[in-house]
Amino acid sequence: MLIGAPCENYPDENRVAMTPQSAQQLAKIGYEAVVESGAGDSAGFSDVEFEEAGARVVASAEELWRDADIVIKVRPPEESELALLRENQILIGFLDPARNPAALEAAAGSGASVIAMEMVPRISRAQKMDALSSMANIAGYRSVIEAGSNFGRFFTGQVTAAGKVSPATVLVIGAGVAGLAAIGAAQALGAVVRAFDVRAEVAEQIESLGAEFLMLDFEEDASGEGGYAAPSSPEFREKQLELFRKHAPEVDVVITTALIPGRDAPELWLDDMVRSMKPGSVVVDLAAEQGGNCTLTVPGEKIVTDNRVTVIGYTDFPSRMASQASSLYATNIFHMIDDMTPENDGVIQLDMEDDVIRNATVAHERNVTYPPPKLVDKSVAAGPAPKIGSSLTHEQRVQEAAAAEVQAIRRTGYWQLALLIAGGFLMFVLGLYAPPSFMQHFIVFALACFVGYQVIWNVNHALHTPLMAITNAISGIIILGALLQLNTGNWLVTGLAAVSVLIAAINIVGGFLVTRRMLNMFQRS
Ligand code: NAI
Repeated sequence: MLIGAPCENYPDENRVAMTPQSAQQLAKIGYEAVVESGAGDSAGFSDVEFEEAGARVVASAEELWRDADIVIKVRPPEESELALLRENQILIGFLDPARNPAALEAAAGSGASVIAMEMVPRISRAQKMDALSSMANIAGYRSVIEAGSNFGRFFTGQVTAAGKVSPATVLVIGAGVAGLAAIGAAQALGAVVRAFDVRAEVAEQIESLGAEFLMLDFEEDASGEGGYAAPSSPEFREKQLELFRKHAPEVDVVITTALIPGRDAPELWLDDMVRSMKPGSVVVDLAAEQGGNCTLTVPGEKIVTDNRVTVIGYTDFPSRMASQASSLYATNIFHMIDDMTPENDGVIQLDMEDDVIRNATVAHERNVTYPPPKLVDKSVAAGPAPKIGSSLTHEQRVQEAAAAEVQAIRRTGYWQLALLIAGGFLMFVLGLYAPPSFMQHFIVFALACFVGYQVIWNVNHALHTPLMAITNAISGIIILGALLQLNTGNWLVTGLAAVSVLIAAINIVGGFLVTRRMLNMFQRS
């Protein structure tokens, strides 16, 4: 199949969805790559580099859309591009489906399948395709660079012959992907960093980066699902604003990234806080596109207030680091396509049973398939995909999805009840015939399985890697138990113990290797 990346027409968009490197990777799994001439210019990838990587360069967007079976893009398609979509074609890119219902209808009407990169769920298995996180990471880093270039002083403290310079104080509000990247970059530049988030669970991550977590004297943890926050109460918000008001006169740079998906950004840095900041201070509002966390933010603009505080509301930070952003985005797209090409034969298989693909697919077989059924733990809710033909409005689809979710929860409840009754009956029959010692062990075994399953299954996806490290401890216990059983004299017990030692040892070594790889990712060379 042919995969094509056209030029991005959105004003000032410098990124491109394919790089020479990703073109080579795609060729390895059987695809042929094609780019529109000049598509990579603003990101620093010339047509010649694409050709050297084996990609075909075509002169016009029309030619590309006509030839390509799969079109990959960064920005949502414009009307002129939607008109070029055709039956059975696949479009992959950012779609902003919640705010773009008309584009979804048009895409579905064309018979093409559309995959929205922002709908890739934030679960461990999909991390490699998580383009939102890749872009937020870049935005967080770039926000610090942008703040630095608008701040007239050093970030780091210095003692020079000309005098002592105090380090800058940076406050980061919201410690999600962008916030943590900003904390890391500001720390690396030598600033004193403070950070706040409504999710208490991020305190450790903030502190592990060397920043100070601002504690709020209030009993509320606004942790929501999938590593996102839940809306906080008005009382909590008041306390939060009180805390920020106290810090406003002390901080030199404020970077705000607070957001709850699907909602307008909460207003957290108010006019009076900006007024109480020192002249020359900088506010960078990453949530500008969703209305902004700072009340003075003008989306897409940089303004300077009367008291000489610079408020930056740019909405294109990743595009300001186009080469880096394109490389990461193209790699995310490659992983997405790789996942959909199980045979490595250059033929895509859009498996709507796969929870990642289902979640990200917003139009398929002439239906708008957004919003997707809610993800329950690692799988999609068992309920049917909402009936989302083109006659339903966006609100109706949201209501249908909610109703399907309630039904799925109810069905799961019935299943659990039936299993409980069946299990109880089985125990009763077993108890009638089995010896008492067997029953005692069997009940402990069954309870251990149940508790173990519940513990692992309910672990937040974000904690899967730390959990993996902890399974090493469990494997250690298994090895110890198995070693004690090795010389019992019974060949079956010895055999099983030997197998346990082997499997647990593989788990431990594998666990160490994966943990090491993860740590290496965060290590500065
Ligand atoms: P995220 O969802 O990972 O992080 C948002 C954080 O805000 C979460 O940790 C959440 O707990 C926290 N939060 C929510 N409400 C809060 C409140 N009231 N007070 C304090 N913290 C609160 O999101 P991510 O991926 O880090 O993105 C952050 C922002 O950056 C988003 O608004 C995103 O759209 C924006 N962004 C902007 C770009 C630009 O060019 N301007 C580019 C990429 C992302």
